[in-house]
Amino acid sequence: MDELMTTEEIVRLCKQHTLYTWAATGAVDPLPIARAEGVYLYTTEGQRILDFNSQLMCVNIGHGHPRIAAAIARQLESFAYTYPGTATAVRARVAKRLAELLPGDLNTFFFTLGGAEANENAIRAARLYTGRNKILARYRSYHGGTNACMQLTGDPRRWANEPGMPGVVHVMDPRPYDYSFGSSAAEQTENNLRYLEEVIMYEGPQTIAAMIIEPVTGTNGIQPPPAGYLEGLEALLDRHGILLICDEVMSGWGRTGKLFAFEHAAGVTPDIVTMAKGLTSAYAPLGAVALSDPIAAHFQDNVFWGGLTYNSHALSLAVAEAAIGVLIDEGLVGNAARLEPVMRAEMERLRERHPSVKEGRAIGLFGMLDIRKNAAGDLIAPYNGSHPAMNELFAFLRTEGLFTFVRWSHIMCNPPLCINEKQLREGFAILDRALEITDRVFEP
Ligand SMILES: Cc1ncc(COP(=O)(O)O)c(C=O)c1O
Repeated sequence: MDELMTTEEIVRLCKQHTLYTWAATGAVDPLPIARAEGVYLYTTEGQRILDFNSQLMCVNIGHGHPRIAAAIARQLESFAYTYPGTATAVRARVAKRLAELLPGDLNTFFFTLGGAEANENAIRAARLYTGRNKILARYRSYHGGTNACMQLTGDPRRWANEPGMPGVVHVMDPRPYDYSFGSSAAEQTENNLRYLEEVIMYEGPQTIAAMIIEPVTGTNGIQPPPAGYLEGLEALLDRHGILLICDEVMSGWGRTGKLFAFEHAAGVTPDIVTMAKGLTSAYAPLGAVALSDPIAAHFQDNVFWGGLTYNSHALSLAVAEAAIGVLIDEGLVGNAARLEPVMRAEMERLRERHPSVKEGRAIGLFGMLDIRKNAAGDLIAPYNGSHPAMNELFAFLRTEGLFTFVRWSHIMCNPPLCINEKQLREGFAILDRALEITDRVFEP
């Protein structure tokens, strides 16, 4: 408990004087957190909670790492902030490190404060570079909460934010939302790309600057692309001079068992990559736009019409340097890849034991369970809807000490990448008990 405030006061004042995101604040029941370490959160009442979502899929290295505190203290000894027009050692070191870590010719970076600002500046760069305006984006996507990013976003968070920036054209995702009827991965790729090329023809390729995708769809399904999709998409966009922007805000920095999710597709190098979250493991706010050499060269001679007071913030960069160091030195990307089969096996075990489990998916430590309501395979909740059993399941997880997101018919399984096998199984053991709640309403 905070020395000065009771749990009740903390919760009451937070709700009285701050707004909560994507919610009516009055309906929010926030977790009162006192501290966090490794894969565990501790409430103000001392309850230990396993973090099965890395908060917002961002605390990739786990909580409370001492190397980050040391890096912040070290940077503060010289300065915390200088304006974006300066040259600083930490900016130089981090940019050089990123250029080494990103494949191909992604060698130049524009720093922001988070993922949305990274995507805003990515489409700005794409438009200035190509001289074209339109952006293609997919329906099953989230790209951030700012005006332009809300229009890029395909999921229902866009609806209340319309109209906004014009020029975004949404297209279908390779895997249908109701995947029960089961076309093969090859068919999904072929059909989707054929349809996409037709959309490009109708829109006029010469008007389209870029297409933005999450290489592995995040909140909207933890969906890896079907085989051949990314390779085919890159070739198709290339033929029409359309840039490929990979939004790696959630899927990047080891989450999928590779540093970046697009690296699962051999030989694919996007023109622009955006990142945030795992870049600092959320110890400080930072995002980045990675630009390929031709685009970066353009901005050597042409003005980049964008800026932020906190561009290249030294404190955030010092945190990124340390967080990347932890991720690499402690082999956490490899740990995510190594534990993927454990997560899949646990999901399969749950599917066999619980009739309400429709499917489990995982790539690295990026996983999701889909819950169905009947033997026909219909998802338990409608798109953008809820079901009382899912609400009850969520409440049960909280009581039992598991933090994760339960959204519509889906349960997120995205622990910090430092989790060990025992802790991972501990999380699935709680889910095992929780799923009896959805089994009870299952219609055989
Ligand atoms: C794929 C993706 N892009 C962009 C964002 C926006 O990032 P931020 O909330 O840091 O602005 C998110 C956040 O969840 C995301 O998952």
